Amino acid sequence: MHRLLPLGMALSVALLALVACEGKSTATMENSSTGSAGPRKPPLSLGAQVGQLAFFDKNLSGGRNMSCASCHDPQYAYGPPNSVSVQLGSDITQTGVRAVPSLRYRESTPAYSDDAPNPDGVTSNSPGGGFMWDGRAATLATQAGMPLLNPLEMNNSSKDAVVKAVRNGTYAGLFKQAFGVDVFNNTDAAFEALGTAIQALETEDLSFHPYSSKYDLHVFNKVGGTLTPAERRGEVVFHSTGVSNCSGCHYTGANFNGNSGLMTDFTYQALGAPRNDRSIPNNPDPIPANNDPKYFDMGLCGPYRTDHMPATPDTANPYCGMFKVPGLRNVATRGAFFHNGVLHSLDQVVNFYNTRDTNPEYWYPANSNDRSGTPQANPSWALQPVHVPGATVNKYNDLPTSQQGSIDEEVPMGTGEGGDKTLASGTRPRQPGSAPVMTPQQIADLVCFLGTLSDGYQPSSAAPTTGRCVK
Ligand code: HEC
Ligand code: HEC
Repeated sequence: MHRLLPLGMALSVALLALVACEGKSTATMENSSTGSAGPRKPPLSLGAQVGQLAFFDKNLSGGRNMSCASCHDPQYAYGPPNSVSVQLGSDITQTGVRAVPSLRYRESTPAYSDDAPNPDGVTSNSPGGGFMWDGRAATLATQAGMPLLNPLEMNNSSKDAVVKAVRNGTYAGLFKQAFGVDVFNNTDAAFEALGTAIQALETEDLSFHPYSSKYDLHVFNKVGGTLTPAERRGEVVFHSTGVSNCSGCHYTGANFNGNSGLMTDFTYQALGAPRNDRSIPNNPDPIPANNDPKYFDMGLCGPYRTDHMPATPDTANPYCGMFKVPGLRNVATRGAFFHNGVLHSLDQVVNFYNTRDTNPEYWYPANSNDRSGTPQANPSWALQPVHVPGATVNKYNDLPTSQQGSIDEEVPMGTGEGGDKTLASGTRPRQPGSAPVMTPQQIADLVCFLGTLSDGYQPSSAAPTTGRCVK
């Protein structure tokens, strides 16, 4: 339905995009949201000004020690400022359960639907859209209320506590100006207004969608946008359906609102990311919730969204294990990858795609009763430092066995043939010991290409002559 925009709408969207480009082409620095003297930018609405003050306001947390920006740091593309897999909360004895996403380029995410059209206009409808790794927030405004009340995050005891902090704070006057003099009379309405303010900030402020990467200069054929040979090869690999198939999910074409290059089609897939727990030797930051062997974070089927729970834990449910395809802009500024933050470098991520099924012993622990042989070293990027040849491996160990039928077997993980996604259908996963689809050179080139997606790129007068992405 959303696929075909009426021409007028498409045009105005294109015009808006042009205006946005105009603003950004002069911008050498990222549009600071703390109002530094930089290039002129469109003034924020009153609501967005409130949102900006609230976003950085530590008084909006139970311990008065944490703002949205503590986890979503503007210096790190509104992602986490460290490489820890999951962050501490305002109550510092508590730790989150999922990796913190970047907040850039989120404003055009449609609300979640089980039957969402795909922006490529070809792929059939499937679960898509929504905020959070499981899409459970329909809008940025409702999303904003969640961390405020989450005991593992900002840890306020009630909406009332949050509204009191705003009413007693420095921008209470501006809040009333934006949302009405009576706004504080009704706690629910005031709490909702705070969400509306934060959404306005995330939508209006150019620092949330600066389009200032080398990739942007490249796709618009602008000065400084010439990719190095390695980056260019990486781009070709990224789009190659038979090799990496990256853009099959990290879609680069125009999205529903006309914006392109967001590197997501907003769909959900089950990639079988390894469980982030103590089964990984020397794991610097296992997720505490995973100490409970019965706890599984299964994305679309719970536990944090509750509308697709399996009838019983043993009833196979295709939604289990599915997480949102994240946009890849600024991904090179991250230090923790996938919904559980289990991987810590892009090299590791791409090698995971390449060898999840050909060499599961690199990623998953051996079954405990099967570790008797002489261990051999795994590659340096593997999660498991060694494996015992011939030992069976606890594959897809972050999903109960009954739910492993959801695992995605598209290229580059599997061979992709057939319409049936169940493991029982046979040959779809690449078999252990068979050759991975990507070469080490292709992997290195892909990582170079991903590096071009970082905002704040300064085209230098001379082309770089050193570094692994030059040639
Ligand atoms: C303690 C760290 C932390 C704090 C503080 C925090 N967040 Fe988040 N944020 C997260 C995590 C973790 C997720 C992913 C949660 C999930 O998927 O269940 C997230 C997800 C989001 C998303 C969804 C992004 C997407 O790609 O779908 C938005 C938007 C967001 N946060 C905005 C905010 C705002 C606004 C605040 C302040 C009111 C805030 N966050 C405070 C950790 C934090
Ligand atoms: C079948 C769809 C699909 C394909 C193909 C695919 N991805 Fe992904 N990608 C995902 C999903 C889904 C996630 C999130 C998985 C999770 O968190 O459990 C993800 C996560 C990532 C992340 C981590 C981002 C973050 O913020 O944590 C990177 C990097 C990435 N993919 C790169 C690639 C590259 C490079 C390729 C090609 C080699 C590729 N992807 C192919 C669906 C896909």
